[in-house]
Amino acid sequence: MKEPGARLKAIISEIGCDTLADIGCDHGYIGVRALQEGRANRLFAVDISDKSLDKCRRLAAEENVADKVEFVVSDGFENLNAAPDTAVIAGMGGYETIKILKAAKTLNRVPEKLILCPHQNASELRRFLRDVPIKKDYIVCEDKKFYPVIVVSDTGEKYAVNEFRYGKNFPESRAYYDMLECRLNTLEERFSGREMPEKMLNEYNDIKELLCRR
Ligand SMILES: C[S@@+](CC[C@H](N)C(=O)[O-])C[C@H]1O[C@@H](n2cnc3c(N)ncnc32)[C@H](O)[C@@H]1O
Repeated sequence: MKEPGARLKAIISEIGCDTLADIGCDHGYIGVRALQEGRANRLFAVDISDKSLDKCRRLAAEENVADKVEFVVSDGFENLNAAPDTAVIAGMGGYETIKILKAAKTLNRVPEKLILCPHQNASELRRFLRDVPIKKDYIVCEDKKFYPVIVVSDTGEKYAVNEFRYGKNFPESRAYYDMLECRLNTLEERFSGREMPEKMLNEYNDIKELLCRR
């Protein structure tokens, strides 16, 4: 199996449990690697698409861990018969992640620990999580793209309102400041020689303030 990139590496490094659910597992890399590294003993490999799940089936067989995996075609936690200790939901949009978490609550299947890595609308996901303790929220950079990694567990601090957009930067990472600089440059280029609308100007000033904390 090839070495994971920075995003998958960060997600895998947050796993440490008995039963893991990898929701939207697709290629299966996260769960299979977690089993191999002894970060989980059992895996629910979950995907809404049976075709996507096939990739995970193949990888688990190749890596000789298939006996520790239950492959489940499911929309989120719906077809799981028990709540796992930890779940990863990575590589989906923030709104899809929210939908899955809302349904899990209704089904009473929210795990003790969640490792989330939304690819869009992270601020909406953070707003949805405003009443729960956040253990970590940091940024990883891979191929010039920035990804948030959000760890929800019973120890941690709730989000402050000014953390919804860019997260907590906890633990602190250089990638967080690189992301802010990148956004600042985008705004400056986009509005070069013209007045910024109020919403953008507020964001611009917020970013400048956050960059001063470096
Ligand atoms: C881009 S892949 C992400 C793969 C892997 N988690 C990662 O981060 O690299 C997204 C996967 O999520 C699956 N998916 C989307 N919505 C889902 C849902 N509601 N429940 C389960 N799987 C879902 C898709 O079928 C797809 O295989």
